[in-house]
Amino acid sequence: MKYSRAQIVYHWLTALLILAMVLTGLAFRFDWTGAWVIRAHQVIGQSLILVLGLRIASRVMHRAHHPSAHKLWERITSHATHAALYLCMIALVVTGYVSASGLNTPYLLWPVDQTFARSDMGETLLDWHYSLKWMLLALVTLHILGALKHLLWDKDDTFTHMTPISRKD
Ligand code: HEM
Ligand code: HEM
Repeated sequence: MKYSRAQIVYHWLTALLILAMVLTGLAFRFDWTGAWVIRAHQVIGQSLILVLGLRIASRVMHRAHHPSAHKLWERITSHATHAALYLCMIALVVTGYVSASGLNTPYLLWPVDQTFARSDMGETLLDWHYSLKWMLLALVTLHILGALKHLLWDKDDTFTHMTPISRKD
């Protein structure tokens, strides 16, 4: 047993949605397209919140254990990176949702209170939303490099943990 089928689906769905979020966010910021792109960002962002919620619930219910073949430093760094990735994604969706509420957008299912979203605190959260993308970029880069190290250098089955091929159980 490594990851359940649902966790594998959630992982790749999250990766796809994160890519869409970064691209639509940057397209808005640097004016690559029309105003529709920030609406797409918010709609996709709300599906990401749903997928992330389901993913975390499934992770809590179904604990994935790592093979002892991994060295101690690998277990420590991978656990730390995974935890940081979860925290960073949660922080991005929370700060993004508050910013979107501040814009009084009609695309949010449950906008956060306007007074809060437009307050100094709302401004601060928007600044955090901007900065967090760099943190996410750094973490995802580290994460992908780690996955590639196992795939190409160690040639072990770490990479296939996140693919349906590993499901021998
Ligand atoms: C992991 C998830 C997310 C990522 C990676 C992300 C990324 C970005 C990026 C790259 C930008 C462009 C600004 C910049 O250069 O920093 C941006 C802006 C924005 N995002 Fe997100 N975002 C995420 C989630 C969300 C969610 C869930 C919402 C709301 C439903 C949201 C609402 C917004 C809004 C309203 C802006 C524009 C703010 C402004 O400049 O007026 N974001 N986001
Ligand atoms: C090409 C892109 C990616 C590859 C090749 C990849 C590969 C993997 C692999 C092989 C694992 C299992 C590691 C293990 O068993 O120790 C994993 C876990 C994980 N990945 Fe990715 N990943 C990618 C993109 C992403 C992205 C974009 C995110 C989020 C922003 C992400 C978040 C995570 C998290 C949080 C885990 C830990 C799952 C858990 O234990 O709950 N991955 N990834």
